[in-house]
Amino acid sequence: MRGNFGKTLTLAAALALTTSLARADDVEVLHWWTSGGEAAALGVLKDDLKTKGIGWVDMPVAGGGGEAAMTAVRARVTAGNPPTAVQMLGFDIQDWAAEGALANLDDVATAEGWDAVIPAALQRFSKYDGHWIAAPVNVHSTNWVWISKSALDAAGGKAPETWDELVAVLDSMKANGITPLAHGGQPWQDATMFDGVMLSLGGEFYKAAMVDLDPAALGGEKMAEAFTRLMKLRTYFDDNFSGRDWNLASAMVINGEAGMQMMGDWAKGEFIKAGKVPGTDFVCIRFPGTQGSVTFNSDQFAMFTVASEGAKAAQAAMASAIESPVFQSAFNVVKGSVPARTDVPDTAFDDCGKKGIKDLAEASAAGTLYGSAAHGHAAPAAVKNALYDVVTAAVNGEYATGADAATALAAAVAAAQ
Ligand code: GAL
Repeated sequence: MRGNFGKTLTLAAALALTTSLARADDVEVLHWWTSGGEAAALGVLKDDLKTKGIGWVDMPVAGGGGEAAMTAVRARVTAGNPPTAVQMLGFDIQDWAAEGALANLDDVATAEGWDAVIPAALQRFSKYDGHWIAAPVNVHSTNWVWISKSALDAAGGKAPETWDELVAVLDSMKANGITPLAHGGQPWQDATMFDGVMLSLGGEFYKAAMVDLDPAALGGEKMAEAFTRLMKLRTYFDDNFSGRDWNLASAMVINGEAGMQMMGDWAKGEFIKAGKVPGTDFVCIRFPGTQGSVTFNSDQFAMFTVASEGAKAAQAAMASAIESPVFQSAFNVVKGSVPARTDVPDTAFDDCGKKGIKDLAEASAAGTLYGSAAHGHAAPAAVKNALYDVVTAAVNGEYATGADAATALAAAVAAAQ
């Protein structure tokens, strides 16, 4: 008996040693990039780190938008065993920084001049108390519509630029016998669509409601109109939209089953992965009425405070690798986003990527760049979750009118603050 027990202990010790030695220069990365396009982009990061001798311990937590991932992070930190790097968005980064849980990246940021090339809109979330605590990978934006070129041609061929033109195209697609609007009925997806709907009623309105949390904007006429428009869009979904993952909605447009999808530009990563070409197979437009404005969200890697010197060195090396201009181009071309750095040429990007880079620069200069409410860049998590609750209730037909939904939103946001 003792012999076997002894053998078990020896094996456990060997495993523990192996694990600890293997972890010496690895980074354990918690993320939610599990779709085809996301995994392809993640592969660019893994391969890049491998060339720099950084081992990768993968901790994927499926679930678009990252809600499940953030729950997993809380569990790991509570257990005293945080991952070394975590994909994180906006206000969530600030919340963890306020807890004192994130490592200081000032050394690598200063050595590599991040302050000069990362736009202020991102630094607002990458820094806490003036110190770098996260490395931004990209800039996504949510006020996009991805339209099947063949379906658009069959519906008249003109990409819609106004709400009325959008409704007319959707009606034509319905008459042509396809699902006009592919959607996944999950709160974060409902809210992502709502970013564009709200923004189409004006950037000042969007900011007042989603960033300033002004009760008059949240419960007012424009918000009522936004919900009325959302309820109209709901009539163009197929019967099986509830619970559908976002990338399966993208696949409906890619395979011609649906006419369009209203989704962040990670959806473009799915089109690219499927070998589709902008202008030939699909058309990328800003949500009608929002061209000139951008609702953005940046994926950042927050590095949790770790004890071992090897892990700290690996974190710094990962942060440095993420911010290298060559990686910034290679990763974002695949991901569908645009570089976090402002000095990366658009040479390698397709027409939609070039448009994304141009739109972002113009919105930054014009003061029409806004944080995505759906993806944690407009207000803290409690407010975001209140928005999710009311928007999903509206999609599910729980309010008789847009005005009722707006009243509910104003109350829910007030209660969340
Ligand atoms: C966003 C994230 C994107 C993509 C998307 C779908 O929050 O910024 O990188 O992962 O969710 O899951």
